[in-house]
Amino acid sequence: MKKILVTGGGGYIGTHTLVDLIEHGYEVYCIDNFSRSNRAMLQRVETITGKSIALFDFDLCDRTATRTFFEQHPVDGIIHFAAFKSVPESVFEPLSYYKNNLESLLNIMECVHDFKIQFLVFSSSCSVYGNVERLPVTESTPFSMPESPYAATKQMGEQMLRDFSPKSDCKIILLRYFNPVGAHPSGLIGELPNGKPNNLVPLITQAAAGLIEKMYVWGSDYDTRDGSGIRDYIHVCDVARAHTLALDYLVENRNSEQLEVFNLGIGEGVSVLEAIHSFEKVTGINLNYEIGPRRKGDVEAIYADNSRAMERLRWKPMYDLDATMETAWLWQKGLANFN
Ligand code: WQD
Repeated sequence: MKKILVTGGGGYIGTHTLVDLIEHGYEVYCIDNFSRSNRAMLQRVETITGKSIALFDFDLCDRTATRTFFEQHPVDGIIHFAAFKSVPESVFEPLSYYKNNLESLLNIMECVHDFKIQFLVFSSSCSVYGNVERLPVTESTPFSMPESPYAATKQMGEQMLRDFSPKSDCKIILLRYFNPVGAHPSGLIGELPNGKPNNLVPLITQAAAGLIEKMYVWGSDYDTRDGSGIRDYIHVCDVARAHTLALDYLVENRNSEQLEVFNLGIGEGVSVLEAIHSFEKVTGINLNYEIGPRRKGDVEAIYADNSRAMERLRWKPMYDLDATMETAWLWQKGLANFN
């Protein structure tokens, strides 16, 4: 049984990926310092899977602690999620984003080299593309200027791995997530708001739950079919599944290059108003929202060409927008009694 280290395994995509890995026969270790996540979520992963999670609580920016982990726990592969990921927060705290996201990655890369780790899957983001001219976005779409320090840390992380890969025998996959949304169908795990959320779907569900009086549609004058911004909303379980399939792809030696990149999106654009209408349809709730001005830093429209992941990783997104909204609402309702 392959042993996989999941860094940031206590987070939104991390917890869902732990579930998928365990359900598909991998043995997992989790490193998380819970700076942006909640330990209770790992107990819920254990409830879903019936397996206990080997957890190590330390900061991956601590080079000594990171090396000590690898000295004591040989692993076959790593899925590296651990990073700060809030776009607006990164604008206010660029130094903490560069330090946290890049120093932890450097420590991981040094251990990949020194401990001869065979496989590395890196958590990247559609934000590496910046504002794009042509849609859908393919993996060879050139990067524009990053819209935030967060996006810059993902562009730099990818470049660091590209430069490193010829000096290592490690097989590397970069996964570029579009907009991960929704929650596990059990309702036990989902996106925990770290303070006031900025992302669309948690704000929709909080408005529906009455936690906020209303939500705002940031911009209705974009050059899109209904004037609101367009994104590629991908269910978090589909994103998690792609990580396990990426490891299978490497374990089975199906990769053609040592470093490969894959877009993870459903391959279609959905507008903000369409997302709201989907939520209203599946829940029967009339959402209280108001049209507001465009949000600084937003791109007008972006969605993925996901054919490479579908062909090479044998991956197929299983959730459509309505099903995704159902799980998001199930999770929000369960949060009412989350201690
Ligand atoms: C989506 C759409 C907003 C809130 C970010 C990161 C990206 C990735 C996903 C990590 C936009 C609109 C939003 C609201 C709104 N994260 N919106 N009212 O900015 O596309 O992507 O999260 O990898 O890197 O950049 O996500 O959910 O904030 O916005 O109208 O109250 O919803 O304008 O069109 P975004 P988002």
